[in-house]
Amino acid sequence: MPSWHKVLNQAPKEGTMVKVQVNNQKLFVTLNNGQLYCAQDRCPHEDIELTLGCLKGNRVKCSLHGFSFDLATGDSSEQDVDNLQTYAVKQENNEIYIEV
Ligand code: FES
Repeated sequence: MPSWHKVLNQAPKEGTMVKVQVNNQKLFVTLNNGQLYCAQDRCPHEDIELTLGCLKGNRVKCSLHGFSFDLATGDSSEQDVDNLQTYAVKQENNEIYIEV
């Protein structure tokens, strides 16, 4: 059963990715065009952190081969690469919670 976990005391700065960890899972939270997102900090293609990449539009782009993933749906740019696991995020007062 997923449950809400407090991960940050405030939202990330616009356009930045902040690493967080819940139940030994490495994730990141980002604020992109005013919208909060959370996803796994590991590229579904090979084992590398997506926080080493960059944000482009509504996608996170991996630094290794340049494949990208939709921040909201996890949708992969490559047909033969798995989608990225994403998680629900909410802000209460200033604090950031994710559902894992
Ligand atoms: S490891 Fe991320 S695109 Fe290849």
